[in-house]
Amino acid sequence: MKSSAVLSALAALSGPASATIYYAGVAESSGEFGVWSPTSTPGTGLPGRFGVDYQFISQSAVDTHVDKNKVNLFRVAFLLERMCPLATGLGATFNETHFSLYKEAIDYITVTKNAYAILDPHNYMRYNNPSQQPMSGSVIGNSSDPTAATTAQFGAFWGELARRFANNSRVIFGLMNEPHDMPSSLLLTNLQASVTAIRASGATSNLILAPGNSWTGGHAWTQGGADASSQWLNKLQDPSNNTAIDIHEYLDADYSGTHAACTADPAANLANATAWLRANNLKAFITEFGASNATGCSTMLSSMLDYMAANDEYIGWTAWAAGPFWGTASPCCTDSKNWGSLEPGSKAADGGPSLYDTVWTPVIQPKVPAKLQWTGGASVHGGNLTAKV
Ligand SMILES: *[C@@H]1O[C@H](CO)[C@@H](O)[C@H](O)[C@H]1NC(C)=O
Ligand SMILES: *[C@@H]1O[C@H](CO)[C@@H](O)[C@H](O)[C@H]1NC(C)=O
Ligand SMILES: *[C@@H]1O[C@H](CO)[C@@H](O)[C@H](O)[C@H]1NC(C)=O
Ligand SMILES: *[C@@H]1O[C@H](CO)[C@@H](O)[C@H](O)[C@H]1NC(C)=O
Ligand SMILES: *[C@@H]1O[C@H](CO)[C@@H](O)[C@H](O)[C@H]1NC(C)=O
Ligand SMILES: *[C@@H]1O[C@H](CO)[C@@H](O)[C@H](O)[C@H]1NC(C)=O
Ligand SMILES: *[C@@H]1O[C@H](CO)[C@@H](O)[C@H](O)[C@H]1NC(C)=O
Repeated sequence: MKSSAVLSALAALSGPASATIYYAGVAESSGEFGVWSPTSTPGTGLPGRFGVDYQFISQSAVDTHVDKNKVNLFRVAFLLERMCPLATGLGATFNETHFSLYKEAIDYITVTKNAYAILDPHNYMRYNNPSQQPMSGSVIGNSSDPTAATTAQFGAFWGELARRFANNSRVIFGLMNEPHDMPSSLLLTNLQASVTAIRASGATSNLILAPGNSWTGGHAWTQGGADASSQWLNKLQDPSNNTAIDIHEYLDADYSGTHAACTADPAANLANATAWLRANNLKAFITEFGASNATGCSTMLSSMLDYMAANDEYIGWTAWAAGPFWGTASPCCTDSKNWGSLEPGSKAADGGPSLYDTVWTPVIQPKVPAKLQWTGGASVHGGNLTAKV
């Protein structure tokens, strides 16, 4: 007891001293738009019309976030069913038109703006029917479901996507958005197939982000007994040792990011995940979090950003969400009210200030570190920190 108490006291001293956020920014959500069907009709919005049903980024909004706000990270959502049409299935055959449009967005962020981009297949570990996302579609690798894409197909998809970005070390591979309601053993099998395929494709150095089960919730990381994410994600093997954990954490009562009130204390709810990261010598990004402008949210959101900055397990974050297609709708945390998004220039439906004005600017922006990584490849070890010039 005595020696472990001393060790943890030392850890408490040494941890925060080296704590660093290398990557900070915003999720770009709109590439996954246009497929929801109230009547559950499969195929709704597929393949979709670029610029009408969906779009990845607005270049001018990215300009504002990089040039004015000085953030260096964007997580850019797309749909597997658009990248890999149902006719050819999940795998290495892409819709080249769709891929080119996506690459144009990723190149804009990483080559033109010198920032970093997380590729985000926004599919909940499901493929074939996004009409009622996040619940619809066959779980990838479910061998009891003859309509499900296989684990091998998921690996082939990632191998091909990674090959195409292997020469761009600013591109980060987010393996999957929010897996849920599936066995964690299958999650690990799918993640391992994709990591193996990514490294075999020649993308030997790009940073990979691996999500857990239960919507990759940080609060839930050690929950679920033998199926807990904590029992599985430390078994993932990366021959290049450049994989971090991808965590989501909202501040409302059920962690869903749908309610305006903030009640879930992030430090308490992340404590177990943080201890697990430390015990397993792993780093993490929190790629979705957010809060409304309601009373109490600014304090709690600030303390969450402080918590990430104070614990060296956390090296990056993207707030949810900006994106060109939100209009006056809100990506999170408003009890379904249309209070706008984190997209610069967006407005609430009543013409009032958007979440960009009421949450990003006053609460998140002051917590963007003055120095971030602007040169070199993305890495679990971070890189050189400099102020954006
Ligand atoms: C490929 O994507 C483009 C752009 O969205 C779309 O116009 C086209 O119909 C798609 N083709 C297929 C076969 O899905
Ligand atoms: C990667 O290679 C492709 C084609 O070979 C090229 O178009 C692209 O500019 C390269 N990207 C980087 C970041 O070097
Ligand atoms: C796998 O497919 C079977 C048959 O359709 C289904 O009963 C089961 O719920 C599926 N498992 C998951 C995790 O979706
Ligand atoms: C990855 O880490 C393992 C264990 O520390 C080590 O043996 C191996 O050499 C590392 N691989 C690379 C490519 O750094
Ligand atoms: C953290 O772990 C402790 C001990 O296992 C447990 O009692 C607690 O409920 C966990 N907290 C969360 C948020 O899961
Ligand atoms: C939050 O923003 C919306 C939209 O501008 C506004 O209607 C609402 O009054 C704001 N809430 C608070 C507590 O300021
Ligand atoms: C950091 O900067 C030093 C000196 O400029 C350079 O030698 C090194 O390669 C840089 N490291 C990375 C990861 O960019």
